Amino acid sequence: MKRATVLGVAIAAAALMALATNLGHEPWSAQRFSIFGTLRSGRLAVLQALQSLSFAMKRPFLIGTTVITAGLAAAATLLGPELLTGYRFMDALDGYYSDYEANGGPWPQIQDSCALCHGVRGQPRDGQYAALAGQPAPYIESQLHAFAQGRRHSAQMGPLAASLTDAQIKSLADYFSRQTPETTEAPGQDAALAKQGKVVVAARGCIACHGENLSGGPLGPRIAGQGEGYLLDQLQAFKQGQRQDPTQAMNAMAGLLSEDELKATVHYLSSLAPKSTAR
Ligand code: HEC
Ligand code: HEC
Repeated sequence: MKRATVLGVAIAAAALMALATNLGHEPWSAQRFSIFGTLRSGRLAVLQALQSLSFAMKRPFLIGTTVITAGLAAAATLLGPELLTGYRFMDALDGYYSDYEANGGPWPQIQDSCALCHGVRGQPRDGQYAALAGQPAPYIESQLHAFAQGRRHSAQMGPLAASLTDAQIKSLADYFSRQTPETTEAPGQDAALAKQGKVVVAARGCIACHGENLSGGPLGPRIAGQGEGYLLDQLQAFKQGQRQDPTQAMNAMAGLLSEDELKATVHYLSSLAPKSTAR
């Protein structure tokens, strides 16, 4: 190539990049309104660049470069925003997928079906559902087997757990135990009730089995930051015998607490910030 042609192409490319970058940075609605203005000023800039070059170029080169540049400018103006947004989107998607695959293999993954009720990564926002995030893996595993075998009763979890293989149960338990637990709901407003619950929890030594910060351990699951509705349902189920703790510890414990104490306890527990202790 001749020097002039190289220069012309370089300038045209620079103009195109500036054009595409400007378009790409504008919000989509603004883009649609200004697209014609940009088209005009972009084309003008390219023509001016070509004009200033034309003294050095031969006529066929000039025509060739003009045609190519116009084609490129049109394509970039039309596709530039989409290309750039598309590029950023693909970038974000790539990040998401590498994280996703690191967590359990390619799409689709079985834990995605749990998100409907248990939230993304096992951390729901609805206090009626159990948070699975950060729960000790052996606990999750034992509960899924209990649902599958009808030892723990749930219309929703029973059939679902029965359809899982042992290997799937193991990998689900492993996956959820690795997720970071959070407080399911915004802390309750009744400070007096929470204080009363704190007294019950201290007096009954819940921490002995539920681990430091009540965030789960080898002897019991995390109860800190679980939803208030879920906690109350479970404590009442233990108290009334609908849910059986194989060790009977929880049935005995819940039986000792009055209805008022149960309400205060769950109000307190739901306001606690859980820690990642389970592995
Ligand atoms: C349609 C809603 C729904 C879906 C989907 C669902 N669950 Fe559940 N899950 C529940 C309900 C409701 C309970 C509480 C049952 C009870 O009252 O004892 C529960 C409880 C559990 C528990 C016990 C939690 C604890 O703290 O004791 C585990 C473990 C669990 N589910 C795992 C899963 C897994 C794994 C999936 C996906 C494969 C899943 N669930 C999908 C509704 C659902
Ligand atoms: C002696 C040990 C022990 C003590 C003390 C104890 N728990 Fe538990 N708790 C357990 C075990 C074990 C389970 C799991 C039972 C099962 O496998 O079904 C459990 C389960 C629970 C659950 C259900 C969690 C879930 O995700 O479904 C709640 C709520 C709970 N305990 C609250 C309490 C509170 C509140 C106290 C104190 C007042 C307490 N526990 C004291 C051993 C204990």
